[in-house]
Amino acid sequence: MLPSVLPTETDHVPVLADEVLHALSPRPGETIVDCTFGSGGHSELLVGCLRGEGKLIAIDRDPTVAPYFERIRRTTTAKARLLHGEFSVVLNQLASNGVRADAILLDLGVSSMQLDRPERGFSYAVDAPLDMRMDPSADLSARDVVNETNEWDLADIFRRYGEERYARQIARAIVRRRAKQPFTRTGDLVETIKQAIPAPARFGEGHPAKRVFQALRIEVNDELGSLERALPAALEMLRPHGRLAVISFHSLEDRIVKRFLRNEEHGCTCPPDFPLCVCGSTPSLRAIPRRAIRPSAAEVARNPRSQSARLRVAVKVG
Ligand SMILES: C[S@@+](CC[C@H](N)C(=O)[O-])C[C@H]1O[C@@H](n2cnc3c(N)ncnc32)[C@H](O)[C@@H]1O
Repeated sequence: MLPSVLPTETDHVPVLADEVLHALSPRPGETIVDCTFGSGGHSELLVGCLRGEGKLIAIDRDPTVAPYFERIRRTTTAKARLLHGEFSVVLNQLASNGVRADAILLDLGVSSMQLDRPERGFSYAVDAPLDMRMDPSADLSARDVVNETNEWDLADIFRRYGEERYARQIARAIVRRRAKQPFTRTGDLVETIKQAIPAPARFGEGHPAKRVFQALRIEVNDELGSLERALPAALEMLRPHGRLAVISFHSLEDRIVKRFLRNEEHGCTCPPDFPLCVCGSTPSLRAIPRRAIRPSAAEVARNPRSQSARLRVAVKVG
């Protein structure tokens, strides 16, 4: 069991906060669902707009966020609930129980608290247990993936989720090294990655282990699968004119969000060469604006972790 995190001054800084507030603009009496509560930076701002009337449903698969939620709950007379679980599962349960929302936020990826706590094993910068589970009670950890996945599939994970050029070489080096001794620490993995890639590439674009760590994190937490399953559930939960905001941090996530919004905006699923629509599906969302919103230079300077953020917003058709 991980110790609870006590809120501090160095908590996660909410990304694109003004833009999210503007996009979701909750009104008193409304229901907000924050699918990725984290340290509650966005939730705190959104709840403020409810002026004590309405509801916040906060979701996170990481149970250590509970003290952050308590801090917000104590400061508002709006109803507030924290649900522990994977957001696509929780959203589907809420939707099938008839719960409806006016504003839904997904701020994807890991929080600063997860990245900065070495024992969570997300960071390549410090030696720590090889873990990377957002939910510490989940079955699959990075240690399992690294020690038990065959060479071919490992390379595929690194290529697909990390866009790693040296995926095959790294996978081969991992398999060779684990035959002697299984991996248990991030430091050993970083060393193996460095040895597997050509010397000039070790000093190229960022840290040499960055892309493999991103790929493992995505695989361990099934991040893309969760997002694919969550978007239709969020749409089902939204009331007419309800607002959906999704912040993604890499192109794999953004592509899923963009494709979902495009399909829902289009509605009709008939093949393009059909002269008439026979499916009868109509548009269910309207993207506003059509392009992703990016952080300003000033925000990136203040909070470098916001650099790759992309916000997409849509309104459910009434
Ligand atoms: C980028 S942080 C959110 C930060 C938050 N918006 C704030 O202002 O503090 C992402 C959070 O979402 C959680 N998370 C990511 N994917 C999740 C999923 N599929 N289901 C539930 N929680 C998830 C992580 O555990 C993490 O706490």
